[in-house]
Amino acid sequence: MNIVLLGAPGAGKGTQAQKLVEEFGLAHISTGDLLRAAVKAQSELGVQAKTYMDAGKLVPDQLVINLVKERLDADDARAGFILDGFPRNTAQAVTLDSELAAMKRNLDAALLVDVNPDVIVKRLSSRRTCRSCGYTAPGGVDVCPRCGGEMYQRDDDKPETIQKRLDVYQTQTAPLIEYYRGHSILKEVDGDRPVDEVYADVRALLTK
Ligand code: AP5
Repeated sequence: MNIVLLGAPGAGKGTQAQKLVEEFGLAHISTGDLLRAAVKAQSELGVQAKTYMDAGKLVPDQLVINLVKERLDADDARAGFILDGFPRNTAQAVTLDSELAAMKRNLDAALLVDVNPDVIVKRLSSRRTCRSCGYTAPGGVDVCPRCGGEMYQRDDDKPETIQKRLDVYQTQTAPLIEYYRGHSILKEVDGDRPVDEVYADVRALLTK
């Protein structure tokens, strides 16, 4: 199973990806997590990416594409992957198609987790993320239930940056919905329901 997860910031892509990984053992390739790890390590990539991320803007395509290529080549991605947060614009989607074609692989589905922007602002303002493993949970959770790490508020989960991220999503990422519909692999799920209900539909859509 090779899947792309689409959806606005805070739609629940990471949450659903965590459940798919637990059940199907797919490689979870989250460009947001990879970039945050680079920022934490203060690598050259991390230093370049931080300014864009803090402003709620997309990191330049080439930096992100190189990261994704490396991950798709890794052993754990051979049996299947979930791309979470990539592609983010048409240029990234076209590059992904050609990379996969060169690897003689293809995408099975682009799954859109659809949530109203009002719900998103509330979710992101209260979200906490694990510093160690990237696990996400609603506010009020101080210790990561998965690894015991410290839960913190991401810099880009502040109200002014959330609105910028939503604007960037509308202008640059939302057009991918039509892109994947045109490739006949778009699947859609209503993400504004309890996590397990959303997952039941995700599972049904991906396994039928
Ligand atoms: P990234 O980390 O990808 O952030 P995002 O797309 O904005 O997505 P989020 O992680 O914020 O949300 P999510 O949909 O995963 O929601 P979650 O499951 O956590 O990117 C960050 C930045 O990195 C970008 O702004 C950009 O700068 C850069 N970047 C990344 N990829 C890039 C790329 N390809 N190109 C260029 N730049 C890139 O859920 C959110 C909250 O809601 C959580 O608290 C969760 O517990 C809760 N929740 C989830 N589902 C439900 C539900 N059904 N009901 C109630 N609560 C729920």
